Formats: sequence, C-alpha cells, structure tokens
Amino acid sequence: MNTLLSVSMLSAHFGRLDQEVEKVNQTSADLVHLDIMDGVFVPNLSYGFPVAELIAQSSQKPLDIHLMIVDPDRYVERFRAIGENAHYLSVHYEANTHLHRTLQQIRKCNMKAGVALNPHTPVELLLDVLEETDFVVVMSVNPGFGGQQFIPQAINKVIRLKEMILKRNPSCLIEVDGGVNAQNAPLLIKAGADILVAGHALFRGGDVQKGIESFRANLRG
Ligand code: DX5
Ligand code: ZN
Repeated sequence: MNTLLSVSMLSAHFGRLDQEVEKVNQTSADLVHLDIMDGVFVPNLSYGFPVAELIAQSSQKPLDIHLMIVDPDRYVERFRAIGENAHYLSVHYEANTHLHRTLQQIRKCNMKAGVALNPHTPVELLLDVLEETDFVVVMSVNPGFGGQQFIPQAINKVIRLKEMILKRNPSCLIEVDGGVNAQNAPLLIKAGADILVAGHALFRGGDVQKGIESFRANLRG
C-alpha cells in the first residue's frame, strides 16, 4: 500500500482557516488530520464542533479525526455528523474505560475505528482489541501540541505493532503522529507505518505541497 499523508490542521493559520483548507485541497495530501483537545486529557485546548464543521465542509479530502479527550465515546455520533468525509476517528487508549465498546460504536457509525497510544503505553496492550481496530495511532510526541520533537522509541513500537497486526488483523493500519518529517519518514515506513501525520513540517515553509513533495521524494529514495 502507498503511504498516506495526513496533514495536521493544528499548524494552519486559524485566522484564515477556510483558505488554509483550500490550500490543502490543492495538494496531493491524502487525509486532513483534526486534533481535538479538551484541556483535561491533554494540557491544551484546540477547537470544537463549529470549527471542525467548517473544516469538514471546506475539505475535499477525507478527515482523520484524533480525539484527545476523556470519555470520547460521548462524542462519536457528533463527530460522525460533522460531515460525510469524517472517515477516520481515533480515541486514546488512556482516555477510554470501555475501549472495545467504543471501537464497535465507531464502526457502527461507518467510520474507521482507531486507537491512539501515548508514548508510554506499550503496543502489547492492544492485543485483545486488534480485531476491532482499523488503525492504531502511535504517538511519537506527548499529545497536546504541534511542532514538538519526535521520540525515536516510536520506531521500535511500530516494528512490534506490525508483528502483532500481521498475526491478528493484517488489514489494520499503523499511523504515526507527532514530530514526523521528511527525515524520519523513511524509517517509519520501513518499520511498517501506513499513514504519516505531519503539521509543522508541512506548514512551516508556507508551501504545503512543497513539503509533501520532499516527504515523497525521501520515501522513494
Ligand atoms: C499532537 C497532535 C499532532 C500534531 C502533529 O498532539 O496530535 O497531530 O498536530 O503535529 P506536528 O507534525 O507538528 O508534530
Ligand atoms: Zn494528532
């Protein structure tokens, strides 16, 4: 499978969000990553439904929604309703008591069900829910902020997770989120990643498509 690139809107200019989404529409990005933070599970707030709806309406790409909120099962249906393009929804292992049920709920809403893991959470804890999981988000920073430094241990986690997935549910995808850039991307793909999230690395130069091209050039090389 070709690697999917998911652009994190956390690094976009919020004062002109519709133009930023339009810019991403013009690129070859595969997905648009929405980071939803509640100020409880993570020490930061991002945006809520009105902004998520605006992005959903303006985006021509499928959405990859990452919930960094406690008890995310309360909001699965509301996120389904933000737009037809709400395709992927991930919840944190650490924030959800009845994860198995939440994953089923996400699938029932016709979205891909994802589990995100903080850097300290071993991938082995997912052994008994892998069959209910469509994608695992390996966090390569402590969630809460864009532009942080990549934690290299994530590569080892991807390797171990890939082995588990091949045995239990080969169609489950691996996404890596946090500090991903054109330099570490090839290592992550080699380890088994299928989806790479990038915010800072793509927005920082002001030209998202140029950023995507440098990722893809490194993936080929
Ligand atoms: C961190 C978020 C990430 C973040 C990625 O809490 O989950 O999605 O926006 O951004 P960069 O690529 O800037 O680390
Ligand atoms: Zn994220």
